[in-house]
Parts: sequence; structure tokens; C-alpha cells
Amino acid sequence: MRSHYCGQVTEQELGNTVSVAGWVHKRRDLGGLIFVDMRDRTGLLQVVFDPDFEAMFNEANKLRQEFCVQISGEVRARPEGQINERMATGKVELLAKEITILNRSAALPIDYNQQVSEEQRLRYRYLDLRRPDMNEKIQFRARVASAVRRYMDSHGFLDIETPMLTRATPEGARDYLVPSRTHKGKFFALPQSPQLFKQLLMMSGFDRYYQIVKCFRDEDLRADRQPEFTQIDIETTFMSADQVRELTEGLVRSLFQELMDVDLGNFPVMAYSEAMRRFGSDKPDLRNPLELVDVADLMKDIEFKVFSGPANDEKGRVAVIKVPGGAALSRKQIDEYTNFVGIYGAKGLAWMKVNDRAAGMDGVQSPVLKFLPEVVVSALLERVDAADGDILLFGADKANVVSEALGALRLKLGQDFDLVADGWKPLWVVDFPMFEDTDEGYFALHHPFTAPIGVNAQELQANPGAALSNAYDMVLNGVEVGGGSVRIHDNQMQQVVFNILGIEEDEAQEKFGFLLDALKYGAPPHAGLAFGLDRLVMLMVGASSIRDVIAFPKTTTAQCPLTDAPGYANPAALAELNIQVKE
Ligand code: AMO
Ligand code: AMP
Repeated sequence: MRSHYCGQVTEQELGNTVSVAGWVHKRRDLGGLIFVDMRDRTGLLQVVFDPDFEAMFNEANKLRQEFCVQISGEVRARPEGQINERMATGKVELLAKEITILNRSAALPIDYNQQVSEEQRLRYRYLDLRRPDMNEKIQFRARVASAVRRYMDSHGFLDIETPMLTRATPEGARDYLVPSRTHKGKFFALPQSPQLFKQLLMMSGFDRYYQIVKCFRDEDLRADRQPEFTQIDIETTFMSADQVRELTEGLVRSLFQELMDVDLGNFPVMAYSEAMRRFGSDKPDLRNPLELVDVADLMKDIEFKVFSGPANDEKGRVAVIKVPGGAALSRKQIDEYTNFVGIYGAKGLAWMKVNDRAAGMDGVQSPVLKFLPEVVVSALLERVDAADGDILLFGADKANVVSEALGALRLKLGQDFDLVADGWKPLWVVDFPMFEDTDEGYFALHHPFTAPIGVNAQELQANPGAALSNAYDMVLNGVEVGGGSVRIHDNQMQQVVFNILGIEEDEAQEKFGFLLDALKYGAPPHAGLAFGLDRLVMLMVGASSIRDVIAFPKTTTAQCPLTDAPGYANPAALAELNIQVKE
């Protein structure tokens, strides 16, 4: 139905007859001429209707926004002064000779040129996706997926599918369950990831596996979390953590190079402990120059219990963030920051303004100054290298509370003070603790199949809290884009980890018996990683939510306004499944 895409009609076609098919993006009537911007997935092309061609002109008069049309005509240069340098087709226009209205459009329920609620956009997603910027994002995503496949294929990886109807896979979220009709009372779980299957594939000798695959997690949704999302899932045999990082770093580097002409360089590697200490986060945004500075050693002997308590507690932390220019903050603004850290459990946000450092105690201002001896203040100012105009913001509590609160505050301050540099800051975070020690017992920081570093099963059992895992996360501009680990390939080690996690032998056998069995038959050392494809694409296109790079996403309450899913099941289907819904 067409000879060219709209976006392909450039000066090279001058004088030629071309035909295009697409939608009426915009129609303008100007002094007897009708101008129509035609749109297809490649862009816009200006079409002119001349009143001298009367039949055509009358047809053009019927055109409305989003009519679907086919137009043939002659490509001619735009008159001087009407050239649009920002459009690929901005130097030409199509003088219409023939037009067919392929389909009409009712008045649109959403106005492309106005802010529309996301609910409305998702309700009419097929129209929302016609908007050029949305259309480009989804097209870009397809190019990323295609480049991923080329890279993985060229590195000898096999694309192998894994089941969607399966058993629970513990990645820490709730499962989506699917009732079985043939086995009443039993349920499949949709995979939170293909983790166990990809490990089994290594045990089967496939050596290098990858898959671009849907994962399902019923968890609290955020801008970078969807209930179903896509991973670039990778697993390898006989490769060390370093080698997996090199390979997967190479993938991301090549995506940025090929699709964006950006050289990410070599990614620095940072220990988890350093990331928490300096940035209060295991996914630090290194574009933000603010850092946390520890000052507990200065506060051990002071009277002020808010500081000296955590300073003398093994699990405590006292840290400050120095904000250049922050002395100008008003009381009200400081109160707002205090409320903000409260969200993360901080009980307050002591502060100190540095008005005139040379003036010593007289040059600083703080609600806690009366509690702080002069030597402490001067050591503090020295430690953070304070300058006039700075404000110091304090966190004192359990270490995890301080890190989380000041880590979040650091990001907010970075935005509020416009400190976040442009560009790309990738890094690897490594040496995570194997387990998180909570009141309810130990939890796996990555997942229960991750190998510890440098300890055997007995040593791990003896001191789980001290063990580091051989896991690695890739972080880009403060977003965790991927994570992986070297896996346990030893049956005994796997049982010890289950044991530490409080998974009883019966339960382990019931849930993961197949894995424990498989580990008995010459399971090879293996390691891998999974990227969040949605997150990667979100960053690459500069979107603020992964919903913008998913064609048909769910809302933050895990609904689809387009299809109105989830819906009620019909009673007959429920009866067949032996399921009764309680009011
Ligand atoms: P993990 O749980 O870290 O690891 O997931 C890997 C990557 O997937 C992305 N991601 C998400 N993206 C959107 N919405 C979500 N709800 C969501 N959850 C995770 C993140 C994350 O880095 N099986 C392991 C990987 C492995 O060990 O090989 C796993 O799934 O970008
Ligand atoms: P208070 O002694 O409660 O009046 O607190 C004095 C100052 O210390 C106030 O500015 C509080 O915001 C701050 N503050 C209280 N608790 C903490 C804490 N855990 N960490 C940091 N600052 C705190």
C-alpha cells in the first residue's frame, strides 16, 4: 500500500512520486491550502493539498485527527522560510495527488497535546502508544532486545526456554499462583525468575544459557517495579565471578556503544561495605557528589545520648552529610528534611550550619551545639572539611537506619541542590553479606543458591553472620540494573544454607528436593546474572518509570485499565478448579 515510510521521504526523493500510509497527526487550513502532518512509526511528513485539485481538496476537507489514510503525490521542496531543521523530512513536502481514506477515527478520548492522567493513558494504551515519543521508546526497546540477542549469540550462548507454570522460586517476593484443574487443591507458581531451571541447564551441560524472559513477582510496586517484568537471564558453567562480570559488563557496554554512541568505559568495582559507608546504599548513584562521613569516634564521650548512644553501640552508627550552600536552609526546610528521614525510621535530623568557620564555636549554629565540646566541633569540621555556607546533617541510630535514612536524604539533597551531574556512572557492587541478620532470623541477601566466599560448609554454619557472598550487582546511575552470583554446586553446602535460613530438611526436600538431587550427579561449578531489561531501557531512553518502556504495563496497584484485568472468574471455571471465593 505504500512505496515509502513517512520518515524516509527526504530531499533524495525530490521530484519523485511516492505513496505513504499512516495517520493524520495534525491538520491545518492555511489561506486556501490544507496541510496535513502524516504519521507512521518512522516519523512525520507534511502533505499539502492544493485547491486546484478540487476532488482531492474536498476529500482532504473531511480529514480529522487520527484518520487512517493512504496518500500518493509528488515530493517537492518546501518554500524558503518553511523549512523545519528539526524534522528529518523538514526540507520537503508531499503535494497530494491521490488520497484514500482507509478508516475514520472517532474523536479521541485522550488529547495528545495535553497532560493526561496515567490511568487514562493506560486505558487507551493503543492510542497512547501512537504518540511519537512513546512509539520511539517501544521501538528502541526492540532494538535493545535485538542487540542483546546478537551479543549473546556471538558469545556462544544458547537461548533455551524454561517453564512458566512451575514451583515457587524464592527471589523474596510473593508468588502469583495458578490453580491446577487436574490436581485439585494444588497450584502452580509463575516463576519469579528462571533461577533453578537455568542452574539445572548448567547441570545438563549446556554451558552457556540466556533467555529474554518474563518474571512474575507479587510485590509492592514502584517506578522501577512491575508485577511482570523482563529479565535478560544468563548462566554459565566453569566461569568465575570476574569472568561473568567481564562478559555481562561487555554486553551493557556494547548496547550503549551501538545504540547510543556512549562509551561507558570500565566499570569500577566497590565492596558493599564501602557503598553503605560512603553512600548509605547498595546501589549508589555516583553522579551525586554528596557522601556520608562517619563521626562516631568523635561522639563516644559526649553527654548527648542521642549521639553517644549509637557511637558506643556495636550496631550503631553516627554519620553526617555536608551540603555546600546548605546554611541558607530555613527552619521550615530543615523540618521538611527531618520529616523526610522520618519515613526511613530516623528519630531526628540534628544539623549544624557553618557560617564562619574561622570564628570557631561562634561561627557555627546548631540546636545541639550546647552538647558538643569545642574539640569535638573542631574535629568534626576538620573531618568533613567544612567551608562557610555548609550545613552538616546528622544521623545517629542503628547502622541500618542511619544508612537508609541518610542514603535517601543524600539522593533528595542531590536533586534539591541540583548537584547530580549529567552522564553515566556504572559500577559493580560486590562482597555482599551472605545473610541479613534480623529479629526473625537470617535472610539471604541475594537468593539461597548463592555461594559464600572462601568458607566451607562447616565454617559457614559456625558463623553465618560474618560470611560474604560471591554475588555482584550492576548499578547504573543509582538503579540496580542487574544482579547475579556464583552458585552453590555442592549438595552439602546447599543444605547448610537452607538450614541457616531456617528451612527445615523436610521443607527443603519438599520445595527443592529436585535441586538437591541434581546436585548429587556431578553438578559443575556455575555462575550467572540477570538484568532487568525494563530498567536498562528506562535508563537508556531517559524515562522516569519502567511503565514508559513496557507496551502494556500495569498500574501501581497491579491492574490493567485497558483490559480491566484482573477480573472475576466465572463460577463454572471456579467450580471446576474446586475453588470457592469468600466474600
Ligand atoms: P534479581 O531478583 O536481583 O535476581 O533480579 C534481577 C534484576 O531484575 C530486575 N528486577 C525487576 N525489574 C522490574 N520489576 C521488578 N519487580 C523487578 N525485580 C527485579 C532488576 C534486578 O537487578 N535469579 C536472580 C538473578 C541471578 O542470580 O542470576 C534474580 O532474579 O534489575
Ligand atoms: P532532641 O534532643 O530530641 O530535642 O533533639 C535535638 C536535635 O537532635 C534535633 O535537631 C533533632 O532533630 C536531632 N535528633 C534527635 N534524634 C536524632 C537522631 N537519632 N539522629 C540525628 N539527629 C537526631
